[in-house]
Amino acid sequence: MAAIKWDSTFSVSVAEMDQQHQKLIALVNELDDAMRQGKGKEVVSKVIGGLVTYTRTHFGAEERLLTQHGYPELDVQKKEHEDFVAKAAQFQVDYNSGRMGLSIQIMNFLSNWLQHHIKVLDKKYGPFLNGKGVR
Ligand SMILES: [Fe+2]
Repeated sequence: MAAIKWDSTFSVSVAEMDQQHQKLIALVNELDDAMRQGKGKEVVSKVIGGLVTYTRTHFGAEERLLTQHGYPELDVQKKEHEDFVAKAAQFQVDYNSGRMGLSIQIMNFLSNWLQHHIKVLDKKYGPFLNGKGVR
């Protein structure tokens, strides 16, 4: 995958969420770099761990914000988050146990999922939260 470059097309119009999305993208890019440079298992495992942990942190923060303001599509968000965390955590286990390597397919999955989720699903909560005074 090519490194993801955050630009305004990723903006969800809420500063805190934009910042967190930028960090998530940076972590996916870091993992992609580690794969391309053929970094060792210890390094890659650490990056995967960081990505999984931060994904949970971010989804938690996003869900709290949406819950707080009574976002009507919260369930759709939660479902997508849950599925993604389950997949990422499974990959983490498979990688650490040596059952699975870090591949272009995995990187493409992570990259495509993240970009699609932010640009399609997350962008929808922007106007809603802005309407509640959240910027
Ligand atoms: Fe989301």
